[in-house]
Formats: sequence, C-alpha cells, structure tokens
Amino acid sequence: MKRIVLLGFMGAGKSLVAKHISRILKCERLDLDEFIEINENMSPADIITLHGEQVFRDIETKYLKKALETNAQVISLGGGTWLKEENRRLIKGHDCVTIWLVTNFESCWINIKSSVKKRPLAKDKRIARELFIEREKAYCLADWHLPVLPHLTSKEVAEIIIELVMPGNKGDQ
Ligand code: S3P
Repeated sequence: MKRIVLLGFMGAGKSLVAKHISRILKCERLDLDEFIEINENMSPADIITLHGEQVFRDIETKYLKKALETNAQVISLGGGTWLKEENRRLIKGHDCVTIWLVTNFESCWINIKSSVKKRPLAKDKRIARELFIEREKAYCLADWHLPVLPHLTSKEVAEIIIELVMPGNKGDQ
C-alpha cells in the first residue's frame, strides 16, 4: 500500500482522520506535530512562540525527513508543512499519496477555537482567514482533493480515503 499523507489547513481534522485510518487498517500512524513535540520536548506552538516560525520550519523539515524513514503508513502533516517546496519534494520522493482535506474556513475556525491545541499562526480570525486563502494554491498540488463535507464524521472521511487509495479494502472495522 502507498503511504497516505494528509494535509490541509489547521482545524481541518488531519490528525483525527489519520487516527481512524490507522485504526481501520491496523497500520502505523505518525502525526508530524506530535513527533516533533516528543523529540524536541516542546510543542510546535511553543517553538514558534519562543524561536519564531522560521526556526520551526527548519525543525519541521528535519522531522519530516525522519518521519518518512519510519514505517508509518499514515502521516498527518502540520498545516504549513506542505507549503515548503523542499517538503513537497521529500514527500513525493517517498512513494506517498497526498490527500488535501478540503474544508471551508468557518469550520476550521470553529475547530481552532474549540481545540486545546495552541496555534500561534492563527491568533485571530482575520489573520487565519488570510492564511487560509493564501495557502489554497499550494494545497491544490496534492494528488487528491477530498471535500470534507459538514455531515461527514472523521471516521467516514477516513473510510472514503481508504476506498480511494485501496478500493475494496475496508479493514476489519
Ligand atoms: C501550523 C499548523 C499546526 C502546527 C504549527 C503550524 C501551520 O498544525 O504545525 O502550529 O502553519 O498551519 P495543525 O495543522 O495540526 O494545526
């Protein structure tokens, strides 16, 4: 099976959908932000706040390389990982299928506001919306664009992705 890489804006549900995919397929999962936090003993949010976004982006690329060397079959990226050309090249060099979870801004914003995860790059709604619009061009470069319709649960989104990537395989559920 090709490795599944999920990308999309903050609050799109990448981590949760990845959890469902790994549960259904009984395969290893890696969340890039969690991976960074475990190895650096600091969350991406704290790295950005203390050292700035550029420092975080370098760290992110370093751990993306390591993540791609693991056996994880499902990887959820951070919202900004896919924007850097070097990162896209690394991912494409590793036989991955990239899936953009396409969401509308308002539903991302609701998730950002209600989440315990800190997001220093989405401090207020105006800034977050500008980022959302600005990033669409890069997200469009993903192999698949999957609209996360409001009535779908994260588990249903995971099932759609599995059917897309490996038709007929529903795991044992
Ligand atoms: C970021 C998204 C965050 C995290 C960091 C930067 C971004 O991950 O990597 O705060 O630039 O969009 P989520 O997409 O999981 O919120």
